Amino acid sequence: MGTPIGAAGRSDAPEHDTPPEHASPPLADHYYTAAPAGPDRRRLLQVELAGQSRTVQTAPGVFCPDRVDVGTAVLLREVPDPPQRGDLLDLGCGWGPIALTLGLRAPEAHVWAVDVNERAVGLTRDNARALGITRLTATTPDEVPDDIRFATIWSNPPIRVGKAALRQMLQRWLPRLEAGGTAYLVVQKNLGADSLQRWVDLTVEGVGCQRVGTSRGFRVLAARRVP
Ligand SMILES: C[S@@+](CC[C@H](N)C(=O)[O-])C[C@H]1O[C@@H](n2cnc3c(N)ncnc32)[C@H](O)[C@@H]1O
Repeated sequence: MGTPIGAAGRSDAPEHDTPPEHASPPLADHYYTAAPAGPDRRRLLQVELAGQSRTVQTAPGVFCPDRVDVGTAVLLREVPDPPQRGDLLDLGCGWGPIALTLGLRAPEAHVWAVDVNERAVGLTRDNARALGITRLTATTPDEVPDDIRFATIWSNPPIRVGKAALRQMLQRWLPRLEAGGTAYLVVQKNLGADSLQRWVDLTVEGVGCQRVGTSRGFRVLAARRVP
């Protein structure tokens, strides 16, 4: 069994993390490829999600497989209750801590858990099934129908993919919020959170972005689609 959420891992560990705004991030590694190298050797992990201890599966080759990442834990603590209806998105789901929390806290809504990493998608799908979450679709980004609009987006985004790719990803998904819908993003403070907030606010059409929380070196940003 792994470490519970109370002992969440460091998001400042290099393999998990946000490069400085002007740093050259390392090339994409196995966290960001469709099919990670190495065996899909699954193991059980005990974590706290939506206020209860839960057993999930993780595997090597996905983000933070040994615990709930500390940035993710900050996000899950700071966000308001999710909308109880409509389509909700976890952008970059990994093994699923955010998507599973959405599914547990909003059982009548439809949760979309997307990741480019197919192993992560499979883990999230199986974890949802094991936790009895029926209205959750775990899939790769291109498989989400174009006409879906999201009542909320929660994300610990993959800053390590680099500034251009990250911005492209946010430009793709944030405009798909419903009018009045809000995306909550957790980003490490000393590694680009404030510049990302300004960029979203100034650049993503129809979206205003503010900081709504700070904890353990992380910012929680709220990007709201103007009605
Ligand atoms: C920082 S991790 C967060 C994972 C998980 N949500 C968690 O909290 O543990 C970011 C995730 O985004 C995924 N990712 C990278 N590029 C992506 C893209 N273009 N679209 C969707 N997901 C992407 C990575 O594979 C990784 O699983």
